[in-house]
Amino acid sequence: MEKLLEIKNLTKKYHEGTSESKAVDNVSLDVERGEFVVIMGASGSGKTSLLHLIAGIDESDEGTLKYFLTDRTDGENCPSAGLHNLHALLSRGIRRKTTKNTCQIMNTDFAHMNEKAKTIFRRENIGIVFQQQCLIPDLTVYENIMLPMMLANRPASKSYPAAGKHPASKNYPAAGTHPAHRRNSARDSGKDIILSLCSQFGLEEHLWKYPSQLSGGQQQRAAILRSVVNKPPLLLCDEPTGSLNSSQTKLVMDLLNDLNQNGQTIILVTHDMKVAVRGKRVIYIEDGRIEGELRFPESEPADTGRDGHDDREHRLIFFLQKRGW
Ligand SMILES: Nc1ncnc2c1ncn2[C@@H]1O[C@H](COP(=O)(O)OP(=O)(O)OP(=O)(O)O)[C@@H](O)[C@H]1O
Ligand SMILES: [Mg+2]
Repeated sequence: MEKLLEIKNLTKKYHEGTSESKAVDNVSLDVERGEFVVIMGASGSGKTSLLHLIAGIDESDEGTLKYFLTDRTDGENCPSAGLHNLHALLSRGIRRKTTKNTCQIMNTDFAHMNEKAKTIFRRENIGIVFQQQCLIPDLTVYENIMLPMMLANRPASKSYPAAGKHPASKNYPAAGTHPAHRRNSARDSGKDIILSLCSQFGLEEHLWKYPSQLSGGQQQRAAILRSVVNKPPLLLCDEPTGSLNSSQTKLVMDLLNDLNQNGQTIILVTHDMKVAVRGKRVIYIEDGRIEGELRFPESEPADTGRDGHDDREHRLIFFLQKRGW
């Protein structure tokens, strides 16, 4: 397997007055491309803090965090429109390997990036679903979801292969399948995808509303769609189903499993066992430290087989109970 993320001895400290606490304490973790890693742990154990370090939103006090990512243009126009700024902005810590068909950014350590480079890196490579939804209040639901496509200036037709070729095609109908389709425009195709996703996720009546006019669950679903719409190589989800009922949770997890099967790497924080069993590996965090790991067998598909899930759930309960859950 190919490594996507390498975390070594990562520590994040908070200071209050004279006292110091470690929200993330000497964490080391490798994440392979195509993994679906679930992070569990009690409230306050450091899950969100770790996710924020992985996203480069917060800075660590000690340790290293490196990405090994392929240029999303697949070398078509290397250096690409999306990445030329990044290459210019990154000062050190980068080895860039260019071959005929691929262009890789290797050894990307957040410690060596300035804020602007981090922002571009995130925009190109990471989709984030925050614990608090963080939709932009002055944009409508539609505009919020469309925003990553517009920022990346990435035609949706490139992000979403046509139906039939794509294993997840049931979730992403090709341009032309939606009644609102107009031909030969990437923007229109992006619009179709968003309309189609919103209709599947029960947001079609709320497209032109502002986040403050939505319920918590509706905001959460909009935030999830916004994070996946560009198909970033890495998806970070912090309790993405916390405000959803069980059928909406299933819908979201079906989508995440589809994306994962199609190659996207996912790191997801949850307290919900039914969500956790949809991953491939569960990491348990206590007081900022990794205290255990449970791997589900590769042969077991995460998104099918009710019986398989029961079995997974039993194993997970046993794993968690041994750690005082
Ligand atoms: N900005 C901050 N300043 C000081 N302490 C913080 C800050 N953010 C988080 N903490 C502390 O760091 C620890 C880990 O917090 P974190 O939000 O990562 O927990 P969590 O595992 O995500 O919890 P939950 O399941 O409730 O979301 C907690 O003790 C919290 O109080
Ligand atoms: Mg949290």
